[in-house]
Amino acid sequence: MLVIEGPSGNGIGRSVASALGCESIEVSRKLFPDGESEIVIPGEVRGKDVVIVQSLYPYQDKGLVELLILADELRKEKAKSIKAVIPYLAYARQDMKFEGKNNAVSISTVLDLLGYSGITTLFTVAPHKSAPLSAFHGAVKVIDGSVPLARALKGNVKMPFVLAADKSATHMAQNFAETLKCDYASMEKQRDRLTGKIRMLSGPDKDFDGMDVVIVDDMISSGGTVVQTAEFAKKKGAKRIVAAAVHLLMIGDAAKKLKEAGVSELYGTNTVLYPKAHITDISEAVADALKK
Ligand code: R5P
Repeated sequence: MLVIEGPSGNGIGRSVASALGCESIEVSRKLFPDGESEIVIPGEVRGKDVVIVQSLYPYQDKGLVELLILADELRKEKAKSIKAVIPYLAYARQDMKFEGKNNAVSISTVLDLLGYSGITTLFTVAPHKSAPLSAFHGAVKVIDGSVPLARALKGNVKMPFVLAADKSATHMAQNFAETLKCDYASMEKQRDRLTGKIRMLSGPDKDFDGMDVVIVDDMISSGGTVVQTAEFAKKKGAKRIVAAAVHLLMIGDAAKKLKEAGVSELYGTNTVLYPKAHITDISEAVADALKK
């Protein structure tokens, strides 16, 4: 197996290759003055089982085009098989049509393009939802980034209680609670489809006096979801509030908003490179998934 670290592989390709004891190379990318990318693969790929690692944030479109160019080139150069590890899969949240809006279901276009480029197996970490990924023409393997993330918190919290910021993060909360040996519950959130504004409909009927509340979600984007969850936890007497999300997009002043809402520490993974948090390397989980 040959692992190719893409221009936004976040170092995961190199670590995966060393965990699997296989060869790895790094793609060289040159930017032309107009911003177009030139991709050079420094090595022979003919007849090899190749795994590309390329995350798609912060430059979703550029990262995607580079991945497509790279995979297509591998196909033309007669690689035996092409798998792609996309730690953060951009467009995964645009997965359904809304009544009266006629919006494009962008993830289905992205999946089609990945298929046309020659990728036959897709690995990704904590996508927004798994079901829409079944539109991909090949196999899809979802890596649960919450397990290594939960381990990073072990020993760093006292009297923990895990709170999923959204019902869809309940499975994450379960994993965290199992690792931290504590209870968990979920918030019920509603998002206005037109304005994008969220409001918390309900949370657990419980006092958090003296407890460290660990808020978990698949991602933090604008920060709104975690901010409202933190405000809830604070009102219920939480002693300390920690937030953990697989993908830390941290758009605009998200960090400031989280701090003001009482979040004292932030945990994430290297699916996205956010420098101001405790970052857990998900390479081992990726290597395990590839081994299977
Ligand atoms: C939504 O369903 C996701 O699981 C996250 O809760 C959401 O994307 C977080 O976004 P934000 O940080 O903007 O509230």
